[in-house]
Amino acid sequence: GARPATDAPRPAPRPQPTVRTCPFDPPEEYRTLREQDPIAPVTFPDGATGWLVTRHEDVRAVLADPRFGANRRPARLGSPAPADTPLPPPPPGMFLMMDPPEHTRIRRLLTGQFTVRRMRQLTPAVERIVAEQLDAMASAGGPADLVRDFALPVPSLVICELLGVPYADRADFQRDSSAMLRLDATQEEARQAHLAMHRYIHELALAKRVAPTDDILSGLMQDGRLTDEEVAGVGALLLLAGHETTANMIALGTMCLLGNPGQLAALRADPSLMDNAVEELLRYLTIIQFGLRRVALEDVELGGHLIEAGSTVLASVTSGNRDAERFSGDPDRLDVRRPYSPHLAFGHGIHQCIGQQLARVEMKAALSALLDRFPGLRLAVPAEKVPMRDDMLIYGVHELPVTW
Ligand code: HEM
Repeated sequence: GARPATDAPRPAPRPQPTVRTCPFDPPEEYRTLREQDPIAPVTFPDGATGWLVTRHEDVRAVLADPRFGANRRPARLGSPAPADTPLPPPPPGMFLMMDPPEHTRIRRLLTGQFTVRRMRQLTPAVERIVAEQLDAMASAGGPADLVRDFALPVPSLVICELLGVPYADRADFQRDSSAMLRLDATQEEARQAHLAMHRYIHELALAKRVAPTDDILSGLMQDGRLTDEEVAGVGALLLLAGHETTANMIALGTMCLLGNPGQLAALRADPSLMDNAVEELLRYLTIIQFGLRRVALEDVELGGHLIEAGSTVLASVTSGNRDAERFSGDPDRLDVRRPYSPHLAFGHGIHQCIGQQLARVEMKAALSALLDRFPGLRLAVPAEKVPMRDDMLIYGVHELPVTW
């Protein structure tokens, strides 16, 4: 087709902002970008170039636009693949990186497992898991590492139970997940970690064909509409996405509340604010810190710029969630009473997080019970000593020493 007309001169690419000045705020450059250059040519950390989209409205538009495909070039440090190398197809079952109709075919088989109703049924089990972890923490006595002792075990236990993965194997899959999420992992390291997880789930799934149990992996094997390879890929994706994200929201969310004592006090005084507080923490902290990547499947005109077919477009959910055009009041302030307005923390469009209701149930159960159980909860080290996950695709804390 004809190329869309564009008169805009093309400015030189600038580096994608990655350096934070405050542990809870995205890099400051995003504000200027939203105001002055909302669709900006950038150089990514690996040296490749593409486009950075920073306004809420534009981020939504990109994520809803079928002209942008989800088989993204990965965000990594080190040298990029030459821009003209075609992208390899996504691994089997990895529907996060697929476009319709393949994406639809696989995602459709899972949506029934993650409905609001299904999650409501699951709530007592989540609350029991939360209570058990808190009992263990209380009896061991402070200080504790909230990540290791609470924030990571809760969603890991839940997703293991849902999928039918033995929690006893967590050391392996948690190690593989971290390897995949490190910004400085090489392409090869990330691939090996994914393969290891894939092989692990594959074996589990094969065993479940012979001896099915009541879980998602058994269900997919019985159903027969996916190949064994696809079931393994779906399982690996759910296992990774199902524990790392929520774990970081619970730990970083706790640190953020402790760092905003007025907000914490409001929440303690009125626990009915919890639903709203969870949404506000999701918005304010937006842990998918380097944004959501897409690739232009054809030439696309966006805000007067020509995005050429094959270009990477980075939709910054982090920036979009701080856009004052969208969030009235001061979007850079945590406000557990902020009137709810749809945010981008779970993405938007056909890939919007399939586990979002589960994540909400887990965050709500975890934060409510934690604040309830430990009225004197506080950091056990100065906030500047908490190791932040600046080096991971999913932001949060590596450790959170707390006492009570
Ligand atoms: C997709 C965030 C929890 C499973 C996504 C996307 C985001 C996201 C931003 C969109 C990715 C894209 O468009 O490229 C989060 C956050 C969570 C969370 C912030 C926790 C607070 C979970 C949980 C599960 C899960 C608990 C497991 C059940 C998935 C899957 C996808 C996805 C399978 C891919 C969906 C698709 O491509 O159609 N998530 N997620 N997530 N999430 Fe989550």
